[in-house]
Amino acid sequence: MKIACIGAGPAGLYFAISMKLRDPGHEIEVFERNPPGVTFGWGVVFSDLTVDNISRNDPVSAKTITGEFAHWDDIDVHYRGQCITSGGHGFIGIGRKRLLEILQDRARKLGVTLHFEAECDPADPKWRGYDLVIASDGANSRFRDAAPDAFGVDVDVRRNKFVWLGTSKVFDAFTFAFEETEHGWIWAHAYRFAPDCSTFIVECSEETWAKFGFDRMSQDESIAACEKLFAKYLDGHSLQSNSTHLVGSAAWLNFRRIKCERWASGNVILLGDAAHTAHFSIGSGTKLALEDAIKLAEVLNRDGLSLEAAMDEYVAERNLEVLKLQNSARNSTEWFETLERYLHFEPLQFAYSLLTRSQRISHENLRLRDREWLEGVERWFWKRATDGRSNTTAPPMFAPLKLREMEVENRITVSPMAMYSALDGVPNDFHFVHLGERALGGAGLVFTEMTCVSPGGRISPGCTGMWNADHVAAWKRIVDFVHANSKAKICLQLGHSGPKGSTKLGWEGNDVPLDEGNWPVMAASDVPWSPANQVPRPMTRADMDAVRDEFVAAVRMGLEAGFDMIELHAAHGYLLSSFITPLQNRRTDEYGGSLEKRLRYPLEVFAAMRAAWPKDRPMSVRISATDWAGEDGVTPEEAVAIGEAFAREGADLIDVSAGQTWADQQPVYGRMFQTPFSDKIRNEGRVATMAVGNIYEPDHANSILAAGRADLVALARPHLVDPFWTLRAAAQLDYRDVHVPPQYLNGMSQLARNLKREAEAAAALRV
Ligand SMILES: Cc1cc2nc3c(=O)[nH]c(=O)nc-3n(C[C@H](O)[C@H](O)[C@H](O)COP(=O)(O)OP(=O)(O)OC[C@H]3O[C@@H](n4cnc5c(N)ncnc54)[C@H](O)[C@@H]3O)c2cc1C
Ligand SMILES: Cc1cc2nc3c(=O)[nH]c(=O)nc-3n(C[C@H](O)[C@H](O)[C@H](O)COP(=O)(O)O)c2cc1C
Repeated sequence: MKIACIGAGPAGLYFAISMKLRDPGHEIEVFERNPPGVTFGWGVVFSDLTVDNISRNDPVSAKTITGEFAHWDDIDVHYRGQCITSGGHGFIGIGRKRLLEILQDRARKLGVTLHFEAECDPADPKWRGYDLVIASDGANSRFRDAAPDAFGVDVDVRRNKFVWLGTSKVFDAFTFAFEETEHGWIWAHAYRFAPDCSTFIVECSEETWAKFGFDRMSQDESIAACEKLFAKYLDGHSLQSNSTHLVGSAAWLNFRRIKCERWASGNVILLGDAAHTAHFSIGSGTKLALEDAIKLAEVLNRDGLSLEAAMDEYVAERNLEVLKLQNSARNSTEWFETLERYLHFEPLQFAYSLLTRSQRISHENLRLRDREWLEGVERWFWKRATDGRSNTTAPPMFAPLKLREMEVENRITVSPMAMYSALDGVPNDFHFVHLGERALGGAGLVFTEMTCVSPGGRISPGCTGMWNADHVAAWKRIVDFVHANSKAKICLQLGHSGPKGSTKLGWEGNDVPLDEGNWPVMAASDVPWSPANQVPRPMTRADMDAVRDEFVAAVRMGLEAGFDMIELHAAHGYLLSSFITPLQNRRTDEYGGSLEKRLRYPLEVFAAMRAAWPKDRPMSVRISATDWAGEDGVTPEEAVAIGEAFAREGADLIDVSAGQTWADQQPVYGRMFQTPFSDKIRNEGRVATMAVGNIYEPDHANSILAAGRADLVALARPHLVDPFWTLRAAAQLDYRDVHVPPQYLNGMSQLARNLKREAEAAAALRV
């Protein structure tokens, strides 16, 4: 094949090498706009996996590259006068200039033709004479931008400003240096990539950048200002830029996250940063470029594969990998963009939060990297959780939490789950066994399902209720069992279905109206949940008074039944949620319009409930932190204000759920997908939160808690199939102090032994 590669960055050069290795008959030319040896940036970091990949692909260049690697293990986080050092991170790095020299040499030896100082114009007709044009022309690709629709380009210009500098100061550890200045926080990411050279990237918010006047400074002035700001880390060494001689380069940049729906059009194929970028803070751009190059060369040289089929296979395989990395990179980017949120953390937790920011490194990963450091974090967590009483190094999920005078034994909660199994609202033997068993299973806190305050407030005829003496007696039986046989606390979730009421049992059809016997429904406005559901009656003031009083009566009954805690359900599109979300609330009176007005009635209900509930017992509110409807619905910023408003009325915990408020919602699912909302509400609103949503491993729970993203962790579906999730986690993590019902002690110790044996066998296999 006759191939042109546009750009002699890692992608273009390594693709040319990989093609020639597979078939020396290919005619390959690489065109680069800059002279040889002139490039942006300083060092790049690699992972062990990338090294394995390039060693398999081309042992010759890999040998030279790995021979020149700088290695380091520690990460130093300088923050508020402390340096927190954790080890075992195992980085390898090399200078970008040196990497490109090695690749250029290798390409030439394999017969690739290199043209330097050759600016390529996508409109030039000469490209039609090539079988393939590889657009490896970087993040600002002209070839991609010449046909944005053909590639489905999506560019997201991120908020922070950064400048990629170098220095002769040699950093022994990967160093993050955070500095507070009169203009805000500014920080550096620094690492060594050669015996005498380090990368030094300076980053800050756009606001801080403007306040410093960096926008009006020349490059030299900017560098001088950074040298002054970070003088204590530089030990007299200077900072340098190497972008002055570059075509199309600027000193300070905003990171551009690039995604393309399609990576090929006509004879042009996008490769590396031209197709997708990953934020520099996770150091994976070069890895992606090299791995793209290997895979593309492999499919293009596979016998019997048409160009189209080869591209399909290439995209199918690489797309997943790229998506995963871009997700992690987004988390990492956002952490730095929302730095202010974490500034109230103590240095150790700040460092933990930084290390786990991308969600690729978890609590147990950190244990493998540096056990002693992680145990220090655990000790710190337990000390804070127990007002200094405990010096233990156990997993954070087993630390107690005090809400008013209620202390939960551990941080795991059985999330509220409707069972649609009651008759006339009365919980029965099913609920007795279901909730009793989950309390025996070790969770610190067990929630009832949404228990409705009136017959008309039920979702379905099978929902539990709390509006008469039969309900109190039946609930009391369950609560008494929980208290007598476990250490769990039990919380009554109270709600009113509003516009989503009068529907079938969950497994007969979600939100589907009853075939017969429907009862009238009401809501903030006359907006039906879906065209199939009833049009609700907009609530009058008299309705509001009546429903508020029903909630208060239910709270009093909850007290009689002996519950430890009450939760108000103001999420998921039910009655109170229909006031909060602008998608459902179309009122023009004092209960609709601004967030303040939309919150007025839910807050009134909550305040009345709070007044009826003992001062020493806690209350929580479940909210939908987003409608998954962009700016049209509740935004994450509003969610913080909602959390703060309920906290002002005496809520001790915000149970942070999301969505289900609007039938056309566009949720973004994934592991722990709602936790970022909990993180935001907790750390911006400074309110205790509970995270929920696809949290299913002990490692998830421990990472969330230690990083301060929530105070409690709720699991719903995992508890449906495994009531003993918490005890199993204790066995898995070898935590002995969990409360086990005495009847089950034998099983617990056997499980712990077996899991330990399995873990040891797996570790021996790895060695
Ligand atoms: C601050 C910062 C830090 C980073 N740190 C890391 C890190 O630690 N580890 C890591 O793996 N990655 C890192 N990256 C990302 C990494 O640099 C890129 O992901 C990687 O270089 C992508 O390789 P590429 O070949 O696709 O593009 P590039 O390296 O950008 O190469 C594109 C080449 O095309 C040339 N070119 C562009 N247009 C034309 C044209 N019209 N005609 C001719 N030539 C053209 C350019 O001059 C350039 O040489 C970082 C990036 C930044 C901005
Ligand atoms: C069967 C079932 C019933 C549910 N019922 C309720 C409920 O009554 N009240 C509530 O607030 N959330 C309810 N939820 C939502 C869960 O509490 C939880 O927020 C959601 O399932 C996400 O957590 P998970 O990924 O751990 O399942 C229910 C979820 C399920 C699966």
